[in-house]
Amino acid sequence: MSTQTLLAVDGLSKSFGGIRAVHDISFALADREILGLIGPNGAGKTTCFNLITGFYTPTAGRVSFKGRDITGAKPFAVAQGGIVRSFQKTNILRRLSVFENVLAGHYLQARQSLLSTFFPGKKVAAVEKSVRESAAEIIEMLGLQSRMNAPASLLSCGELRLLEVAVALAAKPTVLMLDEPAAGLNSSEAMAFGKILKKIRETRVEAILLVEHNMSLVMAVSDRLVVMNFGEKLAEGTPAQIQGNSQVIEAYLGKASI
Ligand SMILES: Nc1ncnc2c1ncn2[C@@H]1O[C@H](COP(=O)(O)OP(=O)(O)O)[C@@H](O)[C@H]1O
Ligand SMILES: [Mg+2]
Repeated sequence: MSTQTLLAVDGLSKSFGGIRAVHDISFALADREILGLIGPNGAGKTTCFNLITGFYTPTAGRVSFKGRDITGAKPFAVAQGGIVRSFQKTNILRRLSVFENVLAGHYLQARQSLLSTFFPGKKVAAVEKSVRESAAEIIEMLGLQSRMNAPASLLSCGELRLLEVAVALAAKPTVLMLDEPAAGLNSSEAMAFGKILKKIRETRVEAILLVEHNMSLVMAVSDRLVVMNFGEKLAEGTPAQIQGNSQVIEAYLGKASI
């Protein structure tokens, strides 16, 4: 059985003035895969996310999704197509409750016009009921049920990161892109989050692209890893291959332990 490529970047580059933030990056995300994108601070990981999701236009290279060229597509169109990201900077409405934020995610994220396709054949009231049920399910999946009615402003940093993932899931992504979702979680919370990520992949999305600094987490959940350093691709392989790669170890020396 051949694995199907969902998302591919090919020769992707982005310069800001003289800074080559991303240079000639290529990788593919396969159906059912969790792909970790790692590298030291400033390596170009978030810029890659911005290029894939249409927030930046590449200087060179292509992005394709399900075989279609989406290079240069607007963020709204990319999200509507099914590539949904969480943000490294929080994207939460702090005065709304956890439940209201996830509810709003169903309507406000790019795919609201498709609500009728999520819940085909249902009348408005029934759709609303389904959306509320879906929001409650997502909140429970992220382990935030005890915080359901708390205003987002009262959440801890770690809980906020989980809520961001919940809001992204509300948009029914095909590909979920997470930028440092475990920042602010302690090590046992991070490992619990790893289990949640696998469950999300099993039940809610077709593939996950994960930028994460917590090495135990990213090594435990990723099927494969792409390592970036100074905007370039340094290595690609399974967690075991990457952990044994001397160039990768060197890139991380004095920065983070791998
Ligand atoms: N909008 C921007 N304008 C200028 N430089 C940027 C911009 N975005 C990112 N950069 C630069 O690109 C490089 C890569 O940044 P980034 O993609 O945020 O790295 P990472 O997410 O791996 O830490 C850094 O040198 C950063 O300063
Ligand atoms: Mg970043």
